[in-house]
Amino acid sequence: MQNLIQKAETTHSLTKHEIVLLLKDNSTNNELFAAADRVREKYVGNEVHLRGLVEFSNICKQNCFYCGLRRDNKNIERYKLEPQTIIEFAQKAASYGYKTMVLQSGEGDYYNIEQMCHIIREIKKLDVAITLSIGEKTEEEYFAYKQAGADRFLLRIETTDEELYKKLHPGMSLENRKNCLKNIRKAGLELGTGCLVGLPGQTLESLADDILYFKKLNADMIGIGPFIPNENTPLRDEAGGTFELSLKVMAITRLLLPDINIPATTAMETLDPNGRLIALQSGANVVMPNVTEGEYRKLYELYPGKICVNDTPAHCRSCITGKIASIGRSVSNAKGFRGG
Ligand code: 5AD
Ligand code: SF4
Ligand code: FES
Repeated sequence: MQNLIQKAETTHSLTKHEIVLLLKDNSTNNELFAAADRVREKYVGNEVHLRGLVEFSNICKQNCFYCGLRRDNKNIERYKLEPQTIIEFAQKAASYGYKTMVLQSGEGDYYNIEQMCHIIREIKKLDVAITLSIGEKTEEEYFAYKQAGADRFLLRIETTDEELYKKLHPGMSLENRKNCLKNIRKAGLELGTGCLVGLPGQTLESLADDILYFKKLNADMIGIGPFIPNENTPLRDEAGGTFELSLKVMAITRLLLPDINIPATTAMETLDPNGRLIALQSGANVVMPNVTEGEYRKLYELYPGKICVNDTPAHCRSCITGKIASIGRSVSNAKGFRGG
């Protein structure tokens, strides 16, 4: 195991078999996390990039089996923020010092291309980077968003396991999702993707395939989090992913893609009260605090136990800055592009 970790740290490559061995064996986890932490420091430094997350609508036309926003969940109150409100939340976030805004929502057509582009152009006036996380779109849409000033797009592949993908995403296809990722790249947007860890029926082999897919795609950002069962979904009785396995998938991803951005995800902190700090010390270099104001945070319930639902953007900003300082790291003042 030590040799595999050393190989990954120096060559940034592993075979599928080697990744599975690392995922299976837990005797050298601390060495794995330490190696990922060294690679993170060497390639992307000690600064942590904060991205302000605006959850602007929880309306979704998809029906992903794991997600609380799925269209068949009648047990949640749906909302969408007005364009002007989205812009105001971004303005406030900019005043707290955020240099990147992430606009996230369920998948829907509530704003047409022109309205989305208007929102992007207005937020761009704040001299911030913009990341969109709004689902599967046409090639033209990705180009239009880029044209309007968007810099990045997040679309997790969720799982590269064809059969599992089909089971969990009725009416969707892995092929189309991969195609969307290609089009995001083609449009000149920075490409973010990632996966869920601990989906029912997911194997270590399939997680190894996910990691190798990230590498093949040469993604600019990879978000990895545990699957957390939601009682308002068909997967309510499943076991869910563990913190440790999610952390291992993340650490191996850092070893294989040394210079990318990797967030310490909110779902990790849901499973461990120190989850984000532990992730930041095991390969991650990004945190995405919520900057949605008011009551909406509670309604954006992908999974139960989501952190910060009763906190304000100002509170989260100072909370996370303090936590980052407590591990000897600092918050970046840059927009945090890959390689920049
Ligand atoms: N547990 C953890 N993460 C989830 N997501 C959706 N539902 C869950 C869940 N139950 C993640 C998906 C999606 C992201 C926005 O939230 O990976 O891409
Ligand atoms: Fe909709 Fe995304 Fe949830 Fe799937 S994961 S139901 S697309 S919000
Ligand atoms: Fe929201 Fe700590 S980041 S309360």
